[in-house]
Amino acid sequence: MFFFFAALVGLFSFTFAFPTPVDYVTRMASTDNVGNKLVFCHFMMGIVSNRENASDYDNDMKRAKDAGIDAFALNIGTDSYGDTQLHYAYESAANNDMKVFISFDFNWWQASQASEVGAKIAQYASHPAQLMVDGKVFVSSFSGNGVDVDAIRSAAGSEIFFAPNFQPGQGDFDKIDGALNWMGWDNDGNNKAPTAEQMVTVADSDKTYEDALQGKAYIARLALVLHSLRSRGLLQQELGVPFRPPLV
Ligand SMILES: *[C@@H]1O[C@H](CO)[C@@H](O)[C@H](O)[C@H]1NC(C)=O
Repeated sequence: MFFFFAALVGLFSFTFAFPTPVDYVTRMASTDNVGNKLVFCHFMMGIVSNRENASDYDNDMKRAKDAGIDAFALNIGTDSYGDTQLHYAYESAANNDMKVFISFDFNWWQASQASEVGAKIAQYASHPAQLMVDGKVFVSSFSGNGVDVDAIRSAAGSEIFFAPNFQPGQGDFDKIDGALNWMGWDNDGNNKAPTAEQMVTVADSDKTYEDALQGKAYIARLALVLHSLRSRGLLQQELGVPFRPPLV
């Protein structure tokens, strides 16, 4: 079976404060999101430490659903409020007929924490809002090349569809079910703006992943929205132009 996923990466509630991305996402979802393709939106749990209940997530869930987003990737670090907020997000998703899954941020999680990662997956695996793919619990990551995938699978206790942000040549692609390519924009090969001498295009990067994946699921990025943008003013300006803005 062939899967193709598109990831819209950004801070959803902020992104959707502006009309341009709504139109873009709706159009994208209605034309491309057919068959086995799913559209995800990356959600940084690290910026919602102060939400007080599941209802605080309802707007995000409703607007995402209306826009044709299939699931939120809930990016988690190792913050103390992580579980409280994950629980609210899963509850809200269930209440709003949305799907969510955990994306482990290996800026914070250590590659040596495979069993903790598996245990965290297990905690939410049977939640009604959990995104299932192929009947398996869908899980992703940011980074995480060296993590022991077998140990994650065994600690998770149920079958997982593991599609992390491994990089070709660094992560073990034999162990995974798919991969997320973080690079949704032309760059210099080092996460900076491309130069005339050093240019890695999105097409180059897609090809590298496709070669490494050998037909496994591919999560391609549609856009860089918030990560390197420093203020809402800049965000609005960036979103007024086509997606995949240059890195600065
Ligand atoms: C949820 O928390 C917010 C504050 O963040 C509050 O305004 C709201 O009334 C609460 N909703 C419920 C259902 O408790």
